[in-house]
Amino acid sequence: MNKAIIEFLNYTNDYLKCGGRIDLKIKHTFRVMRLCEEIASSLNLSEEEVYIAKTIGLLHDIGRFEQWKKYETFSDKDSIDHADLGVKILKKNNYLRKYIEDEKYDDIILKSVKYHNKYKLPKDLNDKELLFVNIIRDADKIDILRLYTLKGIDLELDKNPFSDEVYNLLLNKKEISRKSITNKTDRLSISLGFIFDINYLYSFKYLKDKKYFDIIVDMYKKKSKNKEFGKQLDEIIKVINNYIEVSLC
Ligand SMILES: [Fe+2]
Repeated sequence: MNKAIIEFLNYTNDYLKCGGRIDLKIKHTFRVMRLCEEIASSLNLSEEEVYIAKTIGLLHDIGRFEQWKKYETFSDKDSIDHADLGVKILKKNNYLRKYIEDEKYDDIILKSVKYHNKYKLPKDLNDKELLFVNIIRDADKIDILRLYTLKGIDLELDKNPFSDEVYNLLLNKKEISRKSITNKTDRLSISLGFIFDINYLYSFKYLKDKKYFDIIVDMYKKKSKNKEFGKQLDEIIKVINNYIEVSLC
């Protein structure tokens, strides 16, 4: 793993001078790598498979750096899908070989990078691919939720509560697509809806222990003066915590 980590640090070092918060993306990567390792270990995967999960964690956001350099944004909507860009970078001149000598996991690694951020997964992923895709999806979501609990990076809300569509989707335990977002407040629903796309027991336990959703909901309740929004959040947190409890049974 050391060789892969050194390669990643070398690769990203060139982008540190590009401004932006490249350093935060690097730190995010290492936290996600660790979470991938923890989730994979919790599933009793082989040592080799845990290694693959860690490699996927290390590479999942490799497209973020070129995205910032080219477009000076981390918004995929305003630039390019950073996961697709990551796959392109890893394929170019077989760059993936610098991270792992064995070719036999290439498909799994590339598909995991590609699908780590997609709202819907294609139906043709096989069980092994799905296993790893779901590990990175859980790990990435957990760290994004952690970031949402930190003060200073909270979303700006507008005067509206959640739109009816988004509110009802959450009450019905559905994850939220960007297409459903109609106001600034709605953007918060995406992270709250992450829980309905969590796959592994380890992740549910982790989220329960860390109380990320309670922290986020409390934070936004204090931030907004809109009573209706406050009531919506009270209902949503009940649904989320209930969903976590049921998933842990
Ligand atoms: Fe990502």
